[in-house]
Amino acid sequence: MKHFLDLHKTDAADLRHMIDKARAMKTARHDRPKGSPDDDQPLAGRMVALIFEKPSTRTRVSFDVGVRQMGGQTMVLSGKEMQLGHGETIADTARVLSRYVDLIMIRTFEEATLLEMAEHATVPVINGLTNRTHPCQIMADVMTYEEHRGSIAGRKVVWAGDGNNVCASFIHAAGQFGFDLTFTGPETLDPEQKFIDFARARGSDIKIERDPSRAVVGADLVVTDTWVSMHDPESAKERRHNQLRGYQVNEALMAHAKPDALFMHCLPAHRNDEATSAVMDGPHSVIFDEAENRLHAQKAILRWCLGV
Ligand code: CP
Repeated sequence: MKHFLDLHKTDAADLRHMIDKARAMKTARHDRPKGSPDDDQPLAGRMVALIFEKPSTRTRVSFDVGVRQMGGQTMVLSGKEMQLGHGETIADTARVLSRYVDLIMIRTFEEATLLEMAEHATVPVINGLTNRTHPCQIMADVMTYEEHRGSIAGRKVVWAGDGNNVCASFIHAAGQFGFDLTFTGPETLDPEQKFIDFARARGSDIKIERDPSRAVVGADLVVTDTWVSMHDPESAKERRHNQLRGYQVNEALMAHAKPDALFMHCLPAHRNDEATSAVMDGPHSVIFDEAENRLHAQKAILRWCLGV
């Protein structure tokens, strides 16, 4: 069973294969209409369940379109409308869904829900985001970096702001793809030590630097994300803004990075909070390529999971 649960749980060679496959499939489509089928139809006759316990634009649409381009069908399910975790156990839901569908993608709150789903499903399960990690996003981000600048191995990535679930997967990716990462943010929002230990054990130089201007010096890529994640309480908003204001990615901060540094944000963004519009729409930014590459990267993930 090939589940795609996290970057640190997936073989590095397989991750590399998926990125290369995604780029090849993207190239093969050229500028075809979005709804047109791929030449290959590896998901023909396959049904994919897309379960969302949290809101989504990119993950929902890109998985749906990707499955259809490859000849499969999808059903999009909202956690609220299912018996997930309240009417019946996650394990029983996993066993039941496995009788109907060929693959389950789930976006949920607790990592435990994803893991229980994977443990009891008899079809592959993909992590579409939990409170702890977001591996599909970072596959798209690595693909995007390499499209623009070549291999990400040996590069310096700077994460500015909250050490959240997207940051966690970026740190896992550092270990798996061989790049270095500096986190700059307040101590209270540091990423979990476990993520850092994984990447360091794989030879990546993972640093924490409280001064954002110093952190960004020599950066090949600067990344940020929303200051208040979907699972953070609304009551935390003001405190987080106060803590994170000094870590905004603006033109002055980007000026410390390498001249050809890229800027990424997984979106959705709160413009002029975590990053200014001048940066988001400026020459360093590849944010909409990242969004597009969710589609291509996830198509490669789906194929890897299903072995097709
Ligand atoms: N980046 C991302 O996962 O976007 P959505 O929340 O819209 O799916």
